[in-house]
Amino acid sequence: MFYLCTPIFIPKLVGKEIKYILAIESSCDDTSAAVLCNKKVLSNVVATQKIHEEYGGVVPELASRAHQQNIVPVVHQALSKANIDKKQLSAIAFTRGPGLMGSLLVGTSFAKSLALGLNIPLIEVNHMQAHILAHFIENENPTPQFPFIGMTISGGHTQIVLVRDYFDMKILGETLDDAVGEAFDKSAKILGLPYPGGPLIDKYAQLGNPKKYQFTKPRVSGLNFSFSGLKTGILYFIQKETKNDPAFISKNLNDICASIQYTIIEILMDKLHKAVQQTGIKQIAIGGGVSANSGIRKALKNSVQTHGWSTYIPKFEYCTDNAAMIGIVGYLKYLENDFAKQEITAKARYKIA
Ligand code: KG4
Ligand code: ZN
Repeated sequence: MFYLCTPIFIPKLVGKEIKYILAIESSCDDTSAAVLCNKKVLSNVVATQKIHEEYGGVVPELASRAHQQNIVPVVHQALSKANIDKKQLSAIAFTRGPGLMGSLLVGTSFAKSLALGLNIPLIEVNHMQAHILAHFIENENPTPQFPFIGMTISGGHTQIVLVRDYFDMKILGETLDDAVGEAFDKSAKILGLPYPGGPLIDKYAQLGNPKKYQFTKPRVSGLNFSFSGLKTGILYFIQKETKNDPAFISKNLNDICASIQYTIIEILMDKLHKAVQQTGIKQIAIGGGVSANSGIRKALKNSVQTHGWSTYIPKFEYCTDNAAMIGIVGYLKYLENDFAKQEITAKARYKIA
């Protein structure tokens, strides 16, 4: 189907117009711009901000400054990679929230100005909705059928959502404190690993015994999560063990990581099972950076065989924060003529309606 989206030759599909959407994402520490031709991604450029590594977490003020520096080159690169001139764009989609206010303001202001300058529609996008609708980006994978259960797991979010239609979603549960990615990253920090430590925990976990150490799982009712107690439990455990043996971490790193990962995955899977029980829906679509974790992938794969679930995980580049997922929502909203006004402002707290 590639030729259908080649800009030069064919201006129209049969019964379906070609739309080029420029999408902008700047909710946290990734500056990203993408160009979509209808549901197909022509480019998806992400500038990851390395500056936060030395602080062990995202520093909001530094993030917004880096967005300011990155946004023009990133948009420029997205357009040139897609081989699209800005005059060909049908609309500009941008992340309105949730996220860090300073970061959101950069993308929001840029999108508003560009839409005004080009005299084309502006489309506001909820970042959490976008993580879920990333599954509808055109690619070779099968897409989930409505209704399905979406689980967004990343450094900023942990949410289980009932998805009845593109824009008919209901939050079934979410974290009451830390996000699951933070649980990985903070545990890694306790072990002296660099930020973000999630992928490193995953790496070492694959070489260790997941049942060597037991950590207490939080007792949270319903489909909500809590990870801050687990982090404290891990901290006290490590403090106690290193008091007896200062080399405890280095001697047992693989087993510690495997046990932490095992506990976190059990927490996520327990809630998913509950969600399936509660809704009777066995289609599970996950997203967010933690979807890259080998433990969750394995657990979901097992559930296909043992529980008859259908599971969906987008390509990794569409799991982490990216503008392509903003673009697919932009396109779907374009079809509904759901446009934003120039008066629109960024929204740091923005629930999925
Ligand atoms: O979606 P994302 O790129 O950014 C947001 O936080 O929104 O997710 C980043 C998070 C970090 O906490 C990182 O440690 C975690 O995803 N992560 C992982 C893995 N890869 C990324 N956590 C566990 N295992 C992984 N393989
Ligand atoms: Zn995100």
